[in-house]
Amino acid sequence: MVNIAVLGYGTVGSGVVEVFNTNQESINKRAGQDINIKYVLDLRDFEGDPVQQKIVHDYNIILNDDDIQIVVEVMGGVEPAYTFVKSALEKGKSVCTSNKELVARHGAELLEIAKQNHINFLFEASVGGGIPIIRPLNNSLTADEITDIKGILNGTTNYILSKMSREGLDFETVLKDAQEKGYAERNPEADVEGFDACRKIAILSSLAYGMQVDFEDILTEGITNITKADIAYAKKLKSGIKLIGSSKKVGENIYAIVAPMMLPESHPLMGVNDVFNAIFVKGNVLGDVMFYGQGAGKLPTASAVVSDVVDAVKHLGTNIMSIWCTEKLELADIKDSENRYFVRLSGAGQEEAVKAVFGDVQFVHIEEVPDETAFLTPVMTEREYDEKIAGFDTVMNRIRAELN
Ligand code: HSE
Repeated sequence: MVNIAVLGYGTVGSGVVEVFNTNQESINKRAGQDINIKYVLDLRDFEGDPVQQKIVHDYNIILNDDDIQIVVEVMGGVEPAYTFVKSALEKGKSVCTSNKELVARHGAELLEIAKQNHINFLFEASVGGGIPIIRPLNNSLTADEITDIKGILNGTTNYILSKMSREGLDFETVLKDAQEKGYAERNPEADVEGFDACRKIAILSSLAYGMQVDFEDILTEGITNITKADIAYAKKLKSGIKLIGSSKKVGENIYAIVAPMMLPESHPLMGVNDVFNAIFVKGNVLGDVMFYGQGAGKLPTASAVVSDVVDAVKHLGTNIMSIWCTEKLELADIKDSENRYFVRLSGAGQEEAVKAVFGDVQFVHIEEVPDETAFLTPVMTEREYDEKIAGFDTVMNRIRAELN
């Protein structure tokens, strides 16, 4: 029998206990051994819940118990999670976590400690909730050079954009509705400003390219400036707007960004709506593959955590190799990356001035806002775009576009 401890009895922690209670027999069968939750660490007590008999308040009880071979960290945040996880690994206990902040900041270091101790640091639930994406990148897509990752990595913003698009509503109205329904946090900044997606694309990029991608280096724009008029323009262009976390390899350069993107209606990511997530990966021999599912929520996230526990049990005493090393990957300057740009200028009738600067643009008009000049530029670098747009002082919005 393998004894495990769960750190945190919040949404994901209680989900982990529920998943074991629901599927204990098949989980044990798949792991090849019985798995027993011996402790659950939480500051609170849960009188009346059977979990109470496993609750401990002192982490040292878990750390110093040699019977505990696997620690499940589902507390979130960098501290004290980092201190707890590092000390568990140093004591020879494998760790499974759902904590994207921890993995994005310290993943490479924690993987290295696990490697040295012939144990495992696993984090399937940190990106895409219940969607298998970490294991495929680590163990399945190993024949390929990954050249492109594009993901809808945040359920809250995808819900907001989907509802804005479907119902023609503005951002503030939909955010309020999402908060009332419990989809968006009271403080929605991490989601709507793109910070959550940024940590997730940093993790995926580090795994794909084998080096440390620091999330602070990734240009991050959220969705707070997206209006219902932007979405109406996108529809006129037979496209839609999604918050995309992307990293791509162009020659020897790797570019990473989180930003709203206009994608054609026919793009597979445009079929991903509401709180669902999806990750589109391009390999140089495989071609395109897409992973789709529930990117958040108690049981989908817990399912991914428990799948890591099963993997850790199957690999007790053996490190599952990962190529993500501590050496920093210097991302290429995003100003050199190429896109088309959808631009809105206030005031109608600026077509000639636009053509004189941008050349062969595609103009677009919608009835809702007659007093504007809106257009789609040809493909150009961000640097070229910045230079060309500098002569216009009427810019209302600019959205990167991947449209033919
Ligand atoms: N706030 C996140 C989201 C939760 O909306 O996707 C999952 O990381």
